Amino acid sequence: MAQRGCKCTVRGSINHDEYFHVERIVRPGETISSKAHESQVGGKGANQAVAIARAGGIAYFYGTVGRDGIWVTDKMKHYGIDVGGIIVSDDPTGRAIIQVAADGENSIVLFPGANHSELHEKQFMQESQGFFPETSHLLLQNEIHPRSMVYALDNARNATVVYNPSPLPSDQELSHFPWNKIDWLIVNEAEAAGICRSLDRSRANTTATMSTRELVFLLSAHPSFATTNIICTLGGDGVLAFVPTFHRPKTAHEAPSFMHLQAAKLQGEVRDTTGAGDCFTGYFVQGLMEFGPYAKVGKTIREQEIARILKMCVYAAGMCVEKRGTIESIPTRAQVEARMS
Ligand code: ADP
Ligand code: NA
Repeated sequence: MAQRGCKCTVRGSINHDEYFHVERIVRPGETISSKAHESQVGGKGANQAVAIARAGGIAYFYGTVGRDGIWVTDKMKHYGIDVGGIIVSDDPTGRAIIQVAADGENSIVLFPGANHSELHEKQFMQESQGFFPETSHLLLQNEIHPRSMVYALDNARNATVVYNPSPLPSDQELSHFPWNKIDWLIVNEAEAAGICRSLDRSRANTTATMSTRELVFLLSAHPSFATTNIICTLGGDGVLAFVPTFHRPKTAHEAPSFMHLQAAKLQGEVRDTTGAGDCFTGYFVQGLMEFGPYAKVGKTIREQEIARILKMCVYAAGMCVEKRGTIESIPTRAQVEARMS
């Protein structure tokens, strides 16, 4: 796969995900027993880093685990991730307690643990090499401390910044977010709606009845997003992209446009949609990286090339929903290309 001298730093969360397979989700006050138990690496940061690696890219992971998380780091290394940016803190590794019922329903308790430690910033600030050496792309989600996010954005230098605001930050955090530092925003429908509400609270009632297309237009027209490329995933309806260079009207009479791609046709039924968004995001970043560092939309990357990247992403995410599990269900690039041909 073309590396083109690109390396993505993922500054994000890494968890110990514990799956308990139960007949049904436990009720308040009740104790039930689990038929099977599994431990896996999880966290949106870790999932997206693995998706970049499976897509054929170089991912450098910056995150924090506890002393109980050595196996988690080893597993990331085994997945092909550069783990030089993982540090060990006194806090326990972030953990997700996931009940999976026989009918596929799940219920999750998430404990951020070491993911919210700010030890990372303290340690790397003391090093002369800077925070993200040789990074052409920086990928962020929202499972680390808000101050760690700000620190990462302040140290992004001229890297291309991709942000997936998941889980959705509070209205307070959203209204102060430095959107101008984000080159590519990747959201799902609920996140697009949440960001619109936070930008214009006086219109909260109007946004509630708007279609996702209308919400994406509203976002794109806001001054905070003047130069931000917006990708909005639509579950089984595929994906919308608003790329200002191509889609912003040149005159007041012209209507804005956008790109829409259908979801991939599945082989079989939807089994498990967890991780589909993370798979999509990792594949998208690698798609961008194949155009080289500092590639410019409209110059190096043309509209049909964005469409080609998105097509690969919907196929990869579609293959992910066909399989149970999160990290394990992210397909390899060879599998995605075989499916597309
Ligand atoms: P998230 O998981 O972050 O909420 P989405 O639900 O929008 O994000 O899903 C991300 C991507 O996964 C979609 O753009 C689509 O390509 C793929 N996907 C999700 N659900 C389906 C489905 N039912 N059929 C086919 N593809 C799907
Ligand atoms: Na899956």
